[in-house]
Amino acid sequence: MTTSGAGADLTSSAATDLLRDARERTDALLAEWSERLAEEIGGRHGQALAYALRTPGKRVRAALLAAAFRAVGGTSPAVAGVAAAVETVHAYSLVHDDLPCMDDDDVRRGRPTTHRQFDVPTATRVGFLLVPVAARVLATAAAALGLSESTLGRMAAELFEAGGIEGMVGGQWLDLEAERRTLTLPQLIAVHRGKTGALIRASCILGGMAAEADPAQVAALTAFGEDVGLAYQIADDVLDCTGTSEELGKTAGRDAALAKSTYVGLLGVDQARTEADGLARRAVDHLNRAGVPSGALGMLAGYIASRTS
Ligand code: IPE
Ligand code: IPE
Ligand code: MG
Ligand code: MG
Ligand code: MG
Repeated sequence: MTTSGAGADLTSSAATDLLRDARERTDALLAEWSERLAEEIGGRHGQALAYALRTPGKRVRAALLAAAFRAVGGTSPAVAGVAAAVETVHAYSLVHDDLPCMDDDDVRRGRPTTHRQFDVPTATRVGFLLVPVAARVLATAAAALGLSESTLGRMAAELFEAGGIEGMVGGQWLDLEAERRTLTLPQLIAVHRGKTGALIRASCILGGMAAEADPAQVAALTAFGEDVGLAYQIADDVLDCTGTSEELGKTAGRDAALAKSTYVGLLGVDQARTEADGLARRAVDHLNRAGVPSGALGMLAGYIASRTS
């Protein structure tokens, strides 16, 4: 989104506030879960699980979920538990993404990756373990929100389908198969919508479901999430090539080193940025057309397209 002058500053400081709030709430909840799980599981696996779950992320998915919840009338602070469930699936995806058999990365969120801090078998198992943990975090949050079993069932289906073969896992497979190949733009969009977009879209949908939004509102949140989800990965591709490892908290330049298929490789930095801006605008249009208040979600969309870390 191209905004300028004081308007842009206001938008970015409001997005910063939304992210700070999401970070504080998510980090507090995941710290509690980490302690409980480290005790239950015990030993090295317990420690490694807590390490993976507690590393400090930007919590963009949590912020989107909370903003979607409020946009359709939700008010309970217990929605933070639903956001923590999504961030748990995301944390697992990062542990596995960094493994030697995937992107082979040493640094994540400014710290050694889980397999570097522990070892590859431990990190692999901890990644898998985080999936049922996410289900438990979600069920706990749904109970705190007073949601029915059937709403919880629909939310779980949404989250785990987005994390599965039709979403994140499928996208990750395509991403690996696309190394050292030149994809067409539609093929690259399918990779990005799967590996990153699906979970971001699910965050927006789950925020709506947690507030028992009507089907038209959920449809608008779905379309919004679909567009910001793709914009998010385009910005990630741009930052991998333009950011520093210090700014990103992960190794910059990894995409080029692994000959990944990226928006930068296909379109160049400038056109990739333009695409992300256009998607962020279109995302907000979906909300406006459906009469869903777009203030906070629009600010997050602007941040997503123009972020610098
Ligand atoms: C990194 O996600 C992996 C992608 C899907 C692009 P984030 O950039 O959201 O990472 P954290 O959660 O802030 O560390
Ligand atoms: C990762 O995409 C997507 C998931 C973790 C599902 P990337 O491989 O581009 O993410 P980074 O750049 O390592 O964070
Ligand atoms: Mg990857
Ligand atoms: Mg990676
Ligand atoms: Mg990347």
